[in-house]
Amino acid sequence: MSTLVVVGVQWGDEGKGKVVDLLAREADVIVRFQGGNNAGHTLVVGGQKTIVRLIPSGVLHDGKVCVIGNGVVVNPEVLVEEIDALQQRGRLSDPESLKISEIAHLITPYHKAIDLARERLRGEGKIGTTGRGIGPTYEDKMARVGIRFVDLLDEDVFAQKLERNLEEKNIYLGTLLQEQPLAYQDIFDHYRRLRDRLAPYVTNTSRYIHDALGAGQKVLFEGAQGTMLDVDHGTYPFVTSSNTVAGAVCTGAGIAPQQLRNVIGISKAYTTRVGSGPFPTEEHGADGEKLRRDGGEFGTVTGRPRRCGWFDAVVVRTAARLSGLNAMALTKIDVLSGLSTLRVCTGYRYRGQEYDEVPAGAHILEQVTPIYEELPGWTEPLTAMRSLDALPRNARQYVERLEELVNVPVKMISVGAGREETILIRPTFF
Ligand code: GDP
Ligand code: IMO
Ligand code: MG
Repeated sequence: MSTLVVVGVQWGDEGKGKVVDLLAREADVIVRFQGGNNAGHTLVVGGQKTIVRLIPSGVLHDGKVCVIGNGVVVNPEVLVEEIDALQQRGRLSDPESLKISEIAHLITPYHKAIDLARERLRGEGKIGTTGRGIGPTYEDKMARVGIRFVDLLDEDVFAQKLERNLEEKNIYLGTLLQEQPLAYQDIFDHYRRLRDRLAPYVTNTSRYIHDALGAGQKVLFEGAQGTMLDVDHGTYPFVTSSNTVAGAVCTGAGIAPQQLRNVIGISKAYTTRVGSGPFPTEEHGADGEKLRRDGGEFGTVTGRPRRCGWFDAVVVRTAARLSGLNAMALTKIDVLSGLSTLRVCTGYRYRGQEYDEVPAGAHILEQVTPIYEELPGWTEPLTAMRSLDALPRNARQYVERLEELVNVPVKMISVGAGREETILIRPTFF
């Protein structure tokens, strides 16, 4: 049973795209299992940058199959744009190289309108969502009024469901959210055209993955967002609307727990967060500014500046337990070059109590005092380095200390955005 799960272990944007692209060399099938186009995963190959939102990050390799699992919420318009852009570059030319779950839910214009209007009305208290309609779509899924690909494929079923939903959503939009109503026919016609483009890819992906595994193929599961954005285990309510932990693979791809074994957690060598919510190790001064500048910390989806701060071992330790990490990939360590002293948060203090994992209440997390340990930095640029031995002693010591604090071995170190700018400590991951 050859499976490998990749999850982000902070607040997203850890470099999952880069790592998945690299690991996809070893895989036959690459699967997204949650989230939607709130994700933006960056791949840099041969100096060329590609950002994928819905299509798995294995798409730049020939001969692989990319799967959008049932746990993903799909905006069909964005997906078609993404397919078009990739096809123009010679990718996805084989229709068999992309599969979309027939039971994945569709994001529609009313979901996006509701997301944006709610954020506007929340004002200062906003979550800072990506405004892509993610939350409202998952709400409809749970409320059992969602529209799935299988519905879109049948014109009558789609018409019926869209009509019924839109009637209710327009009342909600108009009366509570002070928005204009949306026109049924516009959405219907638009989605019918999108259906024609996407129908050839729609299938039973759960069964497909099951059969691929049965045939001895290697399947790589690509998480979106990060553990602290998990709707249950993250910094609720400042989270996304899906489960982002490794356990979500089972429900989001439709496979059994026995089929999972290897889980690799992706973490930056420091911490970032985009959007609102508690962030104990956030650094507001010059060091935070340096991380943002040297790390190019601006959102791939919304372009917003990312909040930056020190590595938080409390966050990653919590994530390691929740997803059962057996390895970590540490990314963007090159960004730390030039800082004379590095701080690492080993625990939190709040009202006389110490925490070694993330406390449940956002109101508590807002007020904890991080317990810091200081380590000496280094000045050398790391991007050209390809082995652990080549790294400056202080950089090696930094990595070793993070491993100790989180209690998971670091098996890959990323020293630049490019595919090859990587130190592979473990040669193979499946
Ligand atoms: P994802 O959402 O987890 O896939 O991460 P994003 O793509 O949103 O953000 C990560 C950013 O860091 C992208 O711009 C990557 O190209 C870049 N990146 C990834 N790994 C490294 C690295 O090791 N060093 C540097 N300097 N940049 C990296
Ligand atoms: P990737 O996969 C970073 C954040 C948003 C917001 C919160 C809720 O690229 O790591 P949503 O639109 O999901 O309802 O927004 O979650 N968020 C992300 N932050 N990386 C992401 O994805 C994110 N996806 C959502 O900024 O705080
Ligand atoms: Mg991202």
